Amino acid sequence: MKALITSGGRGTRLRPITHTQNKHLIPIANKPILHYAIEGVVNAGIKQIGIVVNADNDEVQQAIGDGSRWGVKITHIPQDAPLGLAHVVKIAEPFIGKDDFIFYLGDNMVVGGVKRFIQEFKKSNYNCWLTLAKVKNPERFGVPEINSRGRIIGVEEKPKKPKSNYAVSGIYIYDSNIFKACDSIQPSARGELEISDAHQWLINHKYKVGYSEITGWWKDTGKPADLLEANRLILDNQEVKIEGEVDKASVVVGKVVLGKGSKIINSVVRGPAIIGNNCVIENSYIGPFTSIGDRTLVKNSEVEYSIVLRDCKIIDVKIRIEGSLLGNDVEIVEANNKPHVHRFMIGDQSRVEVAW
Ligand code: G1P
Repeated sequence: MKALITSGGRGTRLRPITHTQNKHLIPIANKPILHYAIEGVVNAGIKQIGIVVNADNDEVQQAIGDGSRWGVKITHIPQDAPLGLAHVVKIAEPFIGKDDFIFYLGDNMVVGGVKRFIQEFKKSNYNCWLTLAKVKNPERFGVPEINSRGRIIGVEEKPKKPKSNYAVSGIYIYDSNIFKACDSIQPSARGELEISDAHQWLINHKYKVGYSEITGWWKDTGKPADLLEANRLILDNQEVKIEGEVDKASVVVGKVVLGKGSKIINSVVRGPAIIGNNCVIENSYIGPFTSIGDRTLVKNSEVEYSIVLRDCKIIDVKIRIEGSLLGNDVEIVEANNKPHVHRFMIGDQSRVEVAW
């Protein structure tokens, strides 16, 4: 069994962060999103991983490397243009060969790993194994139609009238018949080879398409709110680890990770939260579900339920920052206007003035 992971696309809904950073490298709980997918398949025992990357830059190759840090072999497969997920599968055929494989969209996060899905696929004699999650807005996803005997009889991509309240999540397991399907379908109205059309082709041609239901937590991290929710969930499951210094005037409670060289001075940190290496938190409050990247300074300010990347400065911000996503090198400093609330989506090297 091999794994194929996507890391391409433009991440337009996460601009401006994605102007300067591939969406899959944005950290959740201080770890790039893509690492969660890689670790998921590594934990399932897979040793050969293909990562499909945008052909026009080598950001992902540089950040991920050859897989040796996970004890696996990673092959980077360039995709020239975003022509759809079935196109991704097509260009990976030389890498996959005749093997079975798990196809994992690198922006999907699932609690509990993927080993159980692979085991269910292996126990079955199916050609294609989908993972389904109940959602409130199925029209945003691939949606299965399931008959009264619990079998998938159709899959539609972003249907206006969904035939179930399930989304097909971005974790699929295939045998090599999927290549026939991807070679046989035509581009959709949005000009992409849709993976849902490949699934429908398999069903139409009597291949066996089964599924597991994801009963726990699953998210595709397309929008800022999704990143904050993913961050909340990962932080909630972390263990306490304090490597930095906490002075006597500070209170640190709950599941808090504090990196090396970081200092908490006269502050309250209420977990779950993660603070990276060489940060300074001074006369401040860091509230639950907050991730703070390396070398960030928070002084005379309050931050809660937010993701703050590396090398930021938050100084003298009187109103609590909440539900916010700050890129690298962002500065937020005091200004003299009248504020009510802060809600930020700020790209790398931005600077914002806030007032009280
Ligand atoms: C893609 C697939 C869709 C699937 C979703 C899961 O959609 O086309 O069928 O439900 O991933 O994340 P996209 O996120 O590219 O719009």
